[in-house]
Amino acid sequence: MHKAKLVLDRDYVIADIDPRLYGSFIEHLGRAVYTGIYQPGHPAADSEGFRQDVLDLVRKLDVPVTRYPGGNFVSGYDWRDGIGPKDQRPQRLDLAWKTTETNQVGLHEFVSWAQKANTQVMYAVNLGTGTPADARDIVEYANHPGGTQLSDLRRSNGARDPFDIKLWCLGNEMDGAWQMGTKTAYEYGRVATEAAKLMKWVDPSIELVACGSSGLGMSTFGEWEYQVLSECYDHVDYVSLHTYYGNRNNDTNDFLASTMDLDQFIKTVVAVCDAVRGKKRAKKRIQLSFDEWNVWYHSNQQDEQLYRRQPWGTALPLLEDIYTFEDALLVGLMLITFLKNADRVRIACMAQLVNVIAPIMTNPEGGAWAQTIYYPLMQASRWGRGQSLQPVLTCDTHDTAQHEAVPLVDAAAVLQDNGGLTIFAVNRDLARSAELTLDLRSFDGLTLVEHQALTHEDVKAVNTEQHPDNVMPKAIPPMQGAAVVLPKASWNVLRYRKQ
Ligand code: AHR
Repeated sequence: MHKAKLVLDRDYVIADIDPRLYGSFIEHLGRAVYTGIYQPGHPAADSEGFRQDVLDLVRKLDVPVTRYPGGNFVSGYDWRDGIGPKDQRPQRLDLAWKTTETNQVGLHEFVSWAQKANTQVMYAVNLGTGTPADARDIVEYANHPGGTQLSDLRRSNGARDPFDIKLWCLGNEMDGAWQMGTKTAYEYGRVATEAAKLMKWVDPSIELVACGSSGLGMSTFGEWEYQVLSECYDHVDYVSLHTYYGNRNNDTNDFLASTMDLDQFIKTVVAVCDAVRGKKRAKKRIQLSFDEWNVWYHSNQQDEQLYRRQPWGTALPLLEDIYTFEDALLVGLMLITFLKNADRVRIACMAQLVNVIAPIMTNPEGGAWAQTIYYPLMQASRWGRGQSLQPVLTCDTHDTAQHEAVPLVDAAAVLQDNGGLTIFAVNRDLARSAELTLDLRSFDGLTLVEHQALTHEDVKAVNTEQHPDNVMPKAIPPMQGAAVVLPKASWNVLRYRKQ
C-alpha cells in the first residue's frame, strides 16, 4: 500500500464549474448518426426514427451540450442539404470520411433529437469550403424568430419557434492538411473574424469558438493560436483544443501519465490567450473549449482496411474503438484534469457519443450498451457540478517511459450546490492500493456516504453487448475516519454529505 494525502478547504475555490464541461459530440461519421442515434425501422426507434435505447443511455450520461455536425465532415457540408422534405434531400460524397451522406438527418432532426436527449446543440459552421455568408445564413435560419426568407423557411419546414442555438464553432481544425479548405493562421483568423461579426450581428446572444490547433503536436501549435487570436480576439469567446491519446506502445504506466501532457497543453494555450490579451490590453479573457477529447487508436488499422473494401459506403463502422478498462482510467484522469483547470476550461466535449470513438455502442440488429469510458463521464457529470476546489495532494511518484515524477494519485474535488462534497480520485499504481488521508479542515460534520470504484483485474477488460456489465463501478463500503483506501488501478468517486 502506498500513502497519499489530500487537503481541501471550502474557501480555496478554483471556479464555478461550467456544466458544459461534460459535453459530447455527434458527427456525420461512420455509424454515429445512421444506425447510431437514428435508425428508422429498428424495434427501439420512435416515430421520428430515433433509437430510444440510445436516448436512454444518453440521458443517463446527462450531457449538457452536444457538438454537431462535425468534425472534419463540416468543412465540406452545406447545411441547406439537410433541410426540407427528406425525399428531396441530395446524396453527396463526404470527402472527409470517404462516405456517401444521405442527408436524412439534418438541422431539424438533430435539434429534435437534442431536445429528447436533454442536451443543448453546439453547432459548427463550415469555414472550410463555406463562407461567412453561409455562417450568417444558418444563424438567421436557426435563431431569427421570423419575417425573413430564411427564418420563414424554417417555419415552413415545421419549426415555428427559433432553435435558439447559443454556442457555435467557427469551423473545425482549420490548420490540418486533411481538412477541406485548410488555411494559414492569418487566413483563418480573418475569415473567422468576418464570420463572427455577421453571426453576432444576426444574434448578439450567441457565443463563438475559434479553432485552435488540431493538436499539441502540430508544428504551428502556439503560433497558430497567437496569430488567430490576434485577428479575432474581440469577436470570439473561446478557443478550441483537441486531443486524443492511445496506448500504442502497450505501456499502461506511460499511457496513464498522458494527463501530465494534457495539463501542460491547457496551461500553454491559456498562456497564449493571455499573451494576446496583454498585447491588446483587453479586459476580456478568452476561455477554452476542449471540444474534442478521448482515447482513439484501437480502430486505426481496421479503418484503413474498411476504406479499401467499401469506398463511398454509408454508415460504415468507422472509428469503432472498443474501450478497455485502462482507457476508462485515462478518461477519469482527463476529467480530473479539466476540473483542476475549470477556471479556464469551460467547455469540453468527449469525442464522440455513439459508435464513433464513443461511450455508447449500438448493434443495428440488436441493442445498445455502455463502454468502459461511459462510467467516469457519467459519474463526473452527475456528481461533479458546483465549485471546483483546489486539491492539495501529496503522494509518491514514479517515472514512466516518457514522463518523469508522475504522481501515483490524482484527484479533483467538487463542492456541490447542496453542500455535499465529491472527490474524484484515480490510483495510477497498477499493483498497490493507496491509503488516501483526507484533511477536510474547513468542513464540519461531513460523512462519507458513498464510495464507488471502477476496478478490474485485467486492464484490457472490455464491455460487449453480451457482457455489458464487465467493467462498471461498484460500491465499496464507505470507511469512516480520516482515510480511505483506493484500490490498485482504480477510478473512485467519494461522496460526502453533511449529516
Ligand atoms: O472526432 C474524429 C475527428 O477527429 C474529427 O472529425 C476531427 O475534428 C478530428 O480530427
